Amino acid sequence: MNFSNLNPMSFRVPALIIVFLLSIATASAQTVTAEKSMALKGIMEKMGREMQLVTQAISKEDWSAISSLAAQIASHDEPPPPEKVQILTWLGPQASKFRGFDNQSHQSANAMVQSANQKDGVGVISAFAKIQTACLGCHQTFRKDYLQHFYSKP
Ligand code: HEC
Repeated sequence: MNFSNLNPMSFRVPALIIVFLLSIATASAQTVTAEKSMALKGIMEKMGREMQLVTQAISKEDWSAISSLAAQIASHDEPPPPEKVQILTWLGPQASKFRGFDNQSHQSANAMVQSANQKDGVGVISAFAKIQTACLGCHQTFRKDYLQHFYSKP
């Protein structure tokens, strides 16, 4: 083994690249903040990916993967308190309807955990349909107005 390779100078170039990449990451993070992104968007994107992974796992009959994905969906993050207050204020009397869809998705995700643990494929698929129905229900009812209100989208 040639120990001269461990010369600290050889770390210099990678370190510079890392510093450069970090500065790009920081700059783009600042852009996102400037565009006023809400935490809910990231939470939704994550759930969307998890639901896609569930469909792949169903094809592979990978019950343990389904069980852990469903548990993640059931315990998804909430927006930080100030954003939650903003959303609930905007919802006003509609808040209970919004919460109803959310509860329905949690209950069905928990049912999917149970079915996956029992390797009950038909049960998993039935729970999957119920979750998607809750996602769709909330999206159809609230998404358009939400985007208009918080992002001024037409
Ligand atoms: C209680 C209401 C509610 C439920 C339940 C809900 N969503 Fe959403 N979802 C929203 C709202 C509001 C938006 C718009 C937010 C945005 O795009 O910034 C949204 C947007 C999304 C988006 C688009 C994100 C983007 O890139 O703009 C995805 C993907 C998504 N949801 C996936 C899901 C999945 C999967 C489920 C079910 C597991 C789900 N949602 C359940 C309210 C809900």
